[in-house]
Amino acid sequence: MNLAGFEIDDAIVMPVKHDYGIGIVGCGGIVNYAHLPAYRKHGLNVLACFDQDPEAAAKTAREHAIPRAVASLDELLADPAVEIVDIAVTPWAQAEIAERVIAAGKHLLCQKPLGMEYATAKRLVDRAREAGVVLAVNQQMRWDAGIRVSKQLLRQGALGDVADARIEVSIRTPWHMWPWIAQSERLEVMYHSIHYLDSIRYLFGDPVAVTARHAKWPGQPEVGETRTMTILDYPGDLRVSVDVNHHNWSEDAYARFRWLGTEGIVEGTLGLLYDYPTGRVDTLRYQPNRQPLEWHEARLSTWWIPDAFAGPMASLMEAIQTGKPPVTAGAENIGTIAAVLAAYRSAAEGRTVRLEEITG
Ligand SMILES: NC(=O)c1ccc[n+]([C@@H]2O[C@H](COP(=O)([O-])OP(=O)(O)OC[C@H]3O[C@@H](n4cnc5c(N)ncnc54)[C@H](O)[C@@H]3O)[C@@H](O)[C@H]2O)c1
Repeated sequence: MNLAGFEIDDAIVMPVKHDYGIGIVGCGGIVNYAHLPAYRKHGLNVLACFDQDPEAAAKTAREHAIPRAVASLDELLADPAVEIVDIAVTPWAQAEIAERVIAAGKHLLCQKPLGMEYATAKRLVDRAREAGVVLAVNQQMRWDAGIRVSKQLLRQGALGDVADARIEVSIRTPWHMWPWIAQSERLEVMYHSIHYLDSIRYLFGDPVAVTARHAKWPGQPEVGETRTMTILDYPGDLRVSVDVNHHNWSEDAYARFRWLGTEGIVEGTLGLLYDYPTGRVDTLRYQPNRQPLEWHEARLSTWWIPDAFAGPMASLMEAIQTGKPPVTAGAENIGTIAAVLAAYRSAAEGRTVRLEEITG
């Protein structure tokens, strides 16, 4: 598709070989309404699923035509046909499972956050590298249509040098879908803005410093912060802001992005956030900085849920075949964890935090 002379395409393409045997660990909400519908759409080969709650595993197997619901992680790992393990458990349970998957010599797709501590994420990355298995992280917002097309436009020089990038989200979030998130002391950035920080890194690279302010809403039942502002400093002129509020009870909810460059502007909306988890297709329009000023609207067709959820798995499979790192390689994702942790330290200490304070 052509947008003002630039090639864009939001289709999610599978690598040539995509029949690897997949085993699922964790059969909760996100697996059922996002992972499995995306995998089915692309004909992926899900062989078995496991959950500590046998009912959840049995129900998931039944509803998604998965051949086997297994009784233990060991049983899943003992199956030589399972080549990739897709983990989607509550975050504090992830590291131990991931280490066992790595020890079994299987490739793995971990959920975000890869670790709630930097050392945990780093350890998993090191173990995977030593074992020679591919570890990718399910930061699927990189495949969300608005972000993917933005990346394509940036690569082709449509924006020139970007100096001002903003994500602004003011929505009402159904935290009741994740009772454990509502009880988390670290909430908004750890589980939500982590997507924005990862997408910003995908588009613009690693920031050098983070300044953050965190707040709650009067009387909120959630334990952690639900309103955050994060400012990312880059070595040149680029400054990025991510401004998120989960307590907008009005009809005026919005979730938008805007990248302002020397050659042009991209702006759009993140459709999923307008009615989570149903959502709608993103919007994106591009204006070159030349007269006559004119907006060009992209026709996007893929959705964050479920379409984008095929992206990290496709990239992981491609990496297994090519030997090149996947787009959301664990080693790369460490930078997102560092940005998240820098935001928490900044908010707690009321100062700007350089990324090297976290990464050492
Ligand atoms: N990438 C995204 O956009 C996205 C969206 C939502 C959730 N998530 C992440 O996905 C993960 C799961 O979220 P969810 O919303 O599906 O949560 P959920 O509470 O609905 O499901 C979690 C499931 O994991 C199972 N589980 C927990 N510990 C286990 C263990 N040790 N062994 C086996 N099974 C275990 C639970 O029984 C439950 O069925 C979380 O890490 C969350 O942060 C990511």
